[in-house]
Amino acid sequence: MGGRLRGAVVGLRMGRAHLRAMLGHPEVEVSAVCDLNPEARDKALEEARAAGAEPRGFDDWPAMLAEAQPELLAIATPNRLHAAMTCQAVAAGVRAICCEKPMALDLAEARAMVRACREAGVPLVINHQRRVGTDLVWLREQIAAGALGEVSLIRATCAGDMLSDGTHLIDSALFLAGDPEWEWVFAGWHRDQDGGDEVVGGGFDKVGGWRFGHPVEDGLFAVCQLAGGPRVELLTGDLRVPGRPYHDLEIMGSRGSLWRAGDSLGTNLFCRGADGGWEPVPDRPGPDVRPAIPESYRRLVELTLAGGDDREHPMGAANALRGFELLIGALESGRTGAVVRPPVSQECYPLAVAPDPT
Ligand SMILES: NC(=O)c1ccc[n+]([C@@H]2O[C@H](COP(=O)([O-])OP(=O)(O)OC[C@H]3O[C@@H](n4cnc5c(N)ncnc54)[C@H](O)[C@@H]3O)[C@@H](O)[C@H]2O)c1
Repeated sequence: MGGRLRGAVVGLRMGRAHLRAMLGHPEVEVSAVCDLNPEARDKALEEARAAGAEPRGFDDWPAMLAEAQPELLAIATPNRLHAAMTCQAVAAGVRAICCEKPMALDLAEARAMVRACREAGVPLVINHQRRVGTDLVWLREQIAAGALGEVSLIRATCAGDMLSDGTHLIDSALFLAGDPEWEWVFAGWHRDQDGGDEVVGGGFDKVGGWRFGHPVEDGLFAVCQLAGGPRVELLTGDLRVPGRPYHDLEIMGSRGSLWRAGDSLGTNLFCRGADGGWEPVPDRPGPDVRPAIPESYRRLVELTLAGGDDREHPMGAANALRGFELLIGALESGRTGAVVRPPVSQECYPLAVAPDPT
């Protein structure tokens, strides 16, 4: 490996986790941080300086691209900005991008950002970080080794909406199943608070049926058939499985079941014992022995310096786009009441499509 990458982060709330991962990487020199909010910017600058870096602070994103010329870029701004910022960064000459989930608001944007990165040879990863966390890697290994026999169902549930939260569930379910193609999805969702066209709600705040400046649903259920593999059931928002924690995954096979009871750092992996009850999984590696976001950056930096491709990264754009198409397919199925199969032809965000006048 040779050379260092000039790193930069735009959007400095969740972006602080990206900043921390870059600051801890020996091949990355953090040279710029950018946020419209001066307080967020100052906190990030303070953290970077405490770690021995001397980045410049920007409030103007195009100015940061032009003046700091980042090579490794983290995009952690609200969802509606991800695709445009990715394409602008590619045009400005970045060498690698880690963009927050969801990758975009609609399929037209998602396909365009993946195309722009591919054409420019820029590896793009989407921050579904659980893919490189200890839990999911261990679970995927168990499934692949046949520990559960034939897996017929993965049930995934969490609070929140599909774009911001369900995207993680879909991504995890596809990862556990070995990243197969999907055959069809059938879903229903409801949005009780339609606050009209006024863009409201930022970050975690859902206001009037909006979040991050785009409409969101209150609850969704979906059933999806994976090619040659299990079915996936998704239950989110107020249709989630009651009592289950955030990002809960149950994997059912012919010889047994495994349950990841959310993101807890305590005991969160269980198997179904002989008496039919859940028992903690014995002899597994401790949770989060390998913090996921730094691990993702370790792989991204390595493949960037080696001239590699996003397909070499588990969180790479190819896997993310497959899951995003399924996410949009589920929302479109709920909108139309029909089964949706890939390739999904609805390129708009289904919640922003005007209802049929009939
Ligand atoms: N991977 C995860 O586990 C995870 C967790 C939380 C959030 N996220 C994602 O991270 C992203 C950000 O989430 P958040 O909770 O930090 O949101 P937030 O709204 O709290 O913060 C976004 C930040 O971006 C800044 N910003 C907005 N527009 C900007 C612009 N044009 N130029 C520069 N800065 C701008 C805002 O000032 C704000 O500080 C979202 O896409 C969200 O889905 C991912």
